[in-house]
Amino acid sequence: MASAFAPGKCILFGEHAVVYGHPAVAVAIDQGVRASITESLEWKLEGMPFDPSRHPHITHIIQSVFHYDGPPLTLDVQSGLFSAAGMGSSAALSNAVGAALHSHLNADEPLDSVKLAKLAHSAEATAQKGRASPTDTATSALGGCVVISGEHVEGTRHVFDTSLVTPEGRREWSINVVDLSPRVREAWLVMGYTGVGSPTGRMVAKVAKLLSESPERSEDMEDISRITRAGLTALSAGNLEALGMAMDACHERLQRLRVSNPLLDRLVVAARPHSMGAKLTGAGGGGCMVALTEDPQRVAEAIEVAGGRPLVSRLGAKGVRVV
Ligand code: PMV
Repeated sequence: MASAFAPGKCILFGEHAVVYGHPAVAVAIDQGVRASITESLEWKLEGMPFDPSRHPHITHIIQSVFHYDGPPLTLDVQSGLFSAAGMGSSAALSNAVGAALHSHLNADEPLDSVKLAKLAHSAEATAQKGRASPTDTATSALGGCVVISGEHVEGTRHVFDTSLVTPEGRREWSINVVDLSPRVREAWLVMGYTGVGSPTGRMVAKVAKLLSESPERSEDMEDISRITRAGLTALSAGNLEALGMAMDACHERLQRLRVSNPLLDRLVVAARPHSMGAKLTGAGGGGCMVALTEDPQRVAEAIEVAGGRPLVSRLGAKGVRVV
């Protein structure tokens, strides 16, 4: 049997602004997806017959990436992530299946996380009608703290470039990493799931409409970009207070872009008394918020009392790995 684990992600800064070429910062979290593969007599997923049309990510990896034509496989998947919640669960699934299949077919060859990030991105794009940013797949593959941008961002280490032909034209991204200071690694993130799915496509379209009707709102995008750069400096310097302040400021700009909602705001407000900062994370409209804290237990309780489902993680977990 071959098994691999790939982490989920949390966007700390730059959601929505990244769609307009500004940088976004994401960290890998402790929770993720584990995939196991064994040879068997028939194709199975989670004990049920495998229907390729219902699982386009997995089918793309098996057929188009690995060109697998061996005996049938049984796939088992365990996820510690809420799905459709902005935690990158489908990217983690693509990475975990890709890594497990790589290990099954080439057990002696080490895993190439950049190659995996690219193939998982192509699987995501195939499953999402050609529209997928590499944020989730790159963060899950590389682990740590990843900066995605239209261009190289000062103070970061460049890892690779990637592009995609989308229905709106060709898009290019620069994928960079930042070393987290030890003080940041000792802090905690508490994510709070609203229990409502986060409709990424719908929220991106809503922001596009707002910007075309009220062009002055692009000031908020500029602000988010500035806040993101301040947040990056705080992440590498280990300045948790500045990091928290930047998260609060980012949430305010996302509210102005109308991607927050009363549920997300309620969880953010509940977390703040015991946190250095809190904001929605990901597309908004549902999904999750995230708080930075040194008291994860208190924040998790506050989120639960306010009606959310908490998930506690350190910042910058290791990337995809064979287990
Ligand atoms: O899908 P989510 O919730 O992780 O958020 C995606 C982040 C956006 O900036 C809103 C969209 C994108 O493609 O980057």
